[in-house]
Amino acid sequence: MKEIIEGLEKRREQARLGGGQARIDKQHAKGKLTARERLDVLLDEGSFEEYDMFVTHRCTDFGMEENVIAGDGVVTGWGTINGRMTYVFSQDFTVFGGSLSETHAKKICKIMDLAVQNGAPIIGLNDSGGARIQEGVASLGGYAEVFWRNAQASGNVPQISVIMGPCAGGAVYSPAMTDFIYMVKDSSYMFVTGPDVVKTVTNEIVTAEELGGAGTHTKKSSVADAAFENDIETLLEVRRLFDFLPQNMNEKAPSRKTQHDEKSLDKSLDTIIPSNANQPYDMHEVITKIADEGDFLEIQKEHAGNILVGFMRMNGEVIGVIANQPMVLAGCLDIDASKKAARFIRFCDAFNIPILTLVDVPGFLPGTNQEYGGIIKHGAKLLFAYAEATVPTVTLITRKAYGGAYDVMASKHIRADVNYAWPSAEIAVMGAKGATEIIYRSELGDKDKIAKRTKDYESRFANPFVAAERGYIDDVIMPHSTRKRLIRAFSTLKNKRQDAPPKKHNNIPL
Ligand code: HXC
Repeated sequence: MKEIIEGLEKRREQARLGGGQARIDKQHAKGKLTARERLDVLLDEGSFEEYDMFVTHRCTDFGMEENVIAGDGVVTGWGTINGRMTYVFSQDFTVFGGSLSETHAKKICKIMDLAVQNGAPIIGLNDSGGARIQEGVASLGGYAEVFWRNAQASGNVPQISVIMGPCAGGAVYSPAMTDFIYMVKDSSYMFVTGPDVVKTVTNEIVTAEELGGAGTHTKKSSVADAAFENDIETLLEVRRLFDFLPQNMNEKAPSRKTQHDEKSLDKSLDTIIPSNANQPYDMHEVITKIADEGDFLEIQKEHAGNILVGFMRMNGEVIGVIANQPMVLAGCLDIDASKKAARFIRFCDAFNIPILTLVDVPGFLPGTNQEYGGIIKHGAKLLFAYAEATVPTVTLITRKAYGGAYDVMASKHIRADVNYAWPSAEIAVMGAKGATEIIYRSELGDKDKIAKRTKDYESRFANPFVAAERGYIDDVIMPHSTRKRLIRAFSTLKNKRQDAPPKKHNNIPL
């Protein structure tokens, strides 16, 4: 028996070595951790249970039968993060460059199936050269099996992808179908085709970093949600994100005890709105002043800064925040902001996370750039996402809520549950100057007359009371009492029930 046990230990040791010490050293030399070291950082100490450690590929072409490595380039199983279970896979770049074979795909599919069956999230650590070239269509089939499961799991259990090395070809499409993508700066890349192919096909000369590095995907393409300095920081940030997410569509996100008094008042909010309506202020400040312990986990921080999205807790309960940011483009809604916020709202709605919307929006950004880019369709995504949401939704207008953007930003009319405004709110079809210049066009030559008309318009509409008189705003609240009032509003919505009319699925303008 002793020998048998030793035999098992030996096989395990062999499997843990992956592609061998030389390749592990190479991985370390690039500043990257190995697949197993990454799981050690991601998961609670000692919680990882590995499956399929002895699985090997079945390829016999190109001499592959001589090159068989236990585990076949991916470490799979489950573990816990702060005590909560998650399924995981971690690709091992030291084994055939983490490339995906038929059996490598089967291992990933197994844990995806278990995750859906057992209602736990899936976290994938990706570090892969794409399809295992020696396997051809068997590898492509493997990818498609993973993709299909990504779609099935979407909205059922949270899926997080971490890009921790080169991810080419098929290796980018599975992450793209998951809920969140985190990248590591300077060592992770995502592209459908690499720089060499780009050069051949389009004659463009571009580095891997420019084509698909963390900067490109967090700022320009918005494929990735955040990027961090190195493997360790990235994995610790994944743990932080995980703490805001529920296990599955039937559960609530985890509450956490807070020292922050639910009734605390913050006088500094009374002076945060500048006296000049065209002067910006930082909406981050409002968020951190009302969040438990000032903690706000921002998603897509580097992209479309005119809208802020992310998670916080209020009185211990997770809330998804969507907020216009007057510091960027005066808080206007544009294509990028609409897409960013719409996707976030849909995530919150799918996973029972109540939504808080902070509104200071002068309207949709005008111009040919936006119109040709399809702002109508993309803006409609945001409107659609809010209108279809059934989770508790509370809205606070801090300053401007003009025109269509008033309707879109979780107004009462598209079924926000509680709508508040600060006394500084201006709820109108448009700003006073623009409105006056349209309705009094014939008087445009007379500056004094126009100034008086503008003043009249302002005093009639540049306030929250016209909307409050109609019940579109439930109350005009003191800024300093915001945290208390919002916590109380969300507490009334705890048992909210709202069903959508029957359908197979809706047809959001994609
Ligand atoms: C098999 C692969 C591999 C692959 C890398 N390796 N990619 N083996 N299939 N796809 C192996 C290498 O042979 C090498 O083996 C080891 O992994 C490390 O690779 P290097 O090239 O030495 O590493 P590096 O210089 O860091 O470059 C990494 C890389 C490069 C950028 C990923 O290897 C590369 O460009 N690979 C090919 C990428 C690709 O075109 N994949 C197919 C995409 S098509 P040894 O034994 O020397 O250690 C696709 C279709 C799916 O995925 C579409 C579905 C929609």
